[in-house]
Amino acid sequence: MSISQPHDLLPVPTGSLQIPAIAPAADGDGAIRFSLIIPTFKESKNIPKIVDQLTSLLDPVLPNAYELIVVDDNSPDGTWEVAQSLTPQYPQLRVMRRIEERGLSTAVIRGWQAARGDVLGVIDADLQHPTELLLKLWGEIARGGDMAVASRHVEGGGVSDWSLIRRILSRGAQTLGLIILPEVIGRVSDPMSGYFMVRRQCIAGRTMSPVGYKILIEVLARGRVPWIGEVGYVFQERQEGESKVTWKQYVDYLRHLIRLRFSLGPIARFFRFGLVGFSGVFVDMAVFYLLHDPSMLGWRLTRSAAISGEVAIINNFLWNDVWTFGDISSRQKGKRQRFKRLLKFNIICLTGLVLNVTIVNILFNIFHVNEYAAKLIAIAIVTVWNFWLNFKLSWRVTEVKE
Ligand code: GDD
Ligand code: MN
Repeated sequence: MSISQPHDLLPVPTGSLQIPAIAPAADGDGAIRFSLIIPTFKESKNIPKIVDQLTSLLDPVLPNAYELIVVDDNSPDGTWEVAQSLTPQYPQLRVMRRIEERGLSTAVIRGWQAARGDVLGVIDADLQHPTELLLKLWGEIARGGDMAVASRHVEGGGVSDWSLIRRILSRGAQTLGLIILPEVIGRVSDPMSGYFMVRRQCIAGRTMSPVGYKILIEVLARGRVPWIGEVGYVFQERQEGESKVTWKQYVDYLRHLIRLRFSLGPIARFFRFGLVGFSGVFVDMAVFYLLHDPSMLGWRLTRSAAISGEVAIINNFLWNDVWTFGDISSRQKGKRQRFKRLLKFNIICLTGLVLNVTIVNILFNIFHVNEYAAKLIAIAIVTVWNFWLNFKLSWRVTEVKE
């Protein structure tokens, strides 16, 4: 390849969003220590400037030991082409043009998958993230940090000219996150930051499934990041191009939080179990209506209630078997095994029903608790009871001797 020719585009990684533990070998001399992803969509005016700033900053500190990877989603303004035309001048620059996939978070992960460094970073292309800060972030890593986050909410941090509404929305989103996912959102002062770096080993081998914009949350949630350094910065105003943030980002953010809540940590399983139980209520009611209502089959009360209850139990079993305890049932294959689990689940649910009725009676008759409150308390207790027994008996993890 002659020096004046633009470098080839990087191939776009496909398949699951997993970062390899070992970096793809750096061709040429010396190892790459730091890979910085610049995700872009319609940033043709900003890209020459940011590449120039980043290069002047990093060349003295990490000569030939860093790379900048622009991941562009086939921008109509030809951002990828502009970036590619810069490659002869900036040998550390590489460009990926994505056509099939879109979205900020996956762009960052695809970039990291192609990255050769041991430390992986991300920065916005629009110069809203001050480039000078990069050296401070790198300093945190050099001091032994596993991650360094640029934060608007620590000393030296802030936003430039935000309206009250935007500030409130931003803080509200963070508070909501703290309620739904405290163990993740509470770890940093600015979980919405899109300017950070992390050691490859902290996230290698873990499958990411981000929704929307907030890649840092995904990294904190799925990765193992013991030591986090934060550095304050002021979020700059955009000079060129426009922000892609719309209402959709808020909805995506909420979906992201909920998805993580149902898949993270020991209580996630219980949340899934609870949601499945909730779905069972609707199945029970619907089937009961079909069987019992005079305009439908018009069967007798007891028979209708018993059958609809059993249908709900089977509904719940199936969802729990593939979702709540899916990881366990996939290790206990075969129809026979599944039928055994169903039988145990059924028995436990029936004992739960007896327990439910008993609790309501005791609370109402002896403690004079309001009957609806009594019923709610009973449901809560029986849900925990059902969950625990089923976890221990129906989807018991059978130890395999090595
Ligand atoms: N490849 C790709 N695909 N890049 C995208 C896409 C996309 O679909 N959408 C946005 N980008 C790029 C933009 O070109 C820009 O470089 C960066 O991602 C951030 O997008 P903006 O639209 O400028 O976001 P913002 O300024 O509103 O949001 C910023 O602030 C948040 C903090 O609240 C970003 O820094 C976020 O990362 C940050 O979380
Ligand atoms: Mn921006």
